[in-house]
Amino acid sequence: MKYSQKVMEHFANPHNVGKLDDANGIGEIGNAKCGDIMKMYLKIENDIIVDVKFNTYGCASAIATSSIATDMIKGQPLSEALKLTNKAVVEALDGLPAVKIHCSVLAEQAIKAAIADYYKRQGIDPEPIVGKIEDNDHE
Ligand code: FES
Repeated sequence: MKYSQKVMEHFANPHNVGKLDDANGIGEIGNAKCGDIMKMYLKIENDIIVDVKFNTYGCASAIATSSIATDMIKGQPLSEALKLTNKAVVEALDGLPAVKIHCSVLAEQAIKAAIADYYKRQGIDPEPIVGKIEDNDHE
């Protein structure tokens, strides 16, 4: 299996790792196949993601995709963050081995779950905005 230089860089030195104590949107997603878990913390002000951090018990690809995905949504409005696809994340990393594509879905879904949590806390039903979240954990 061959990883791109970008994957190696983000794995060796991941950005935005940790926990946000003042997060107002938190999402957790698991993958049933590998058992890995991703937790995403968002701090949202006026519909803008002002800060983001993640924690994962995941593989190198999960760490690299979360690192770059969190870079991509930081400072963005929620509407833009919701458009982030795992495909865009994989492209930004110059590709992932085919058997590792599912790892990039973890980051995308955890971001969506955190945004859904934010809307729920505002008393807004997130499903029409965020859509269904695939939590493979309960398959
Ligand atoms: Fe589980 Fe990559 S193998 S997230």
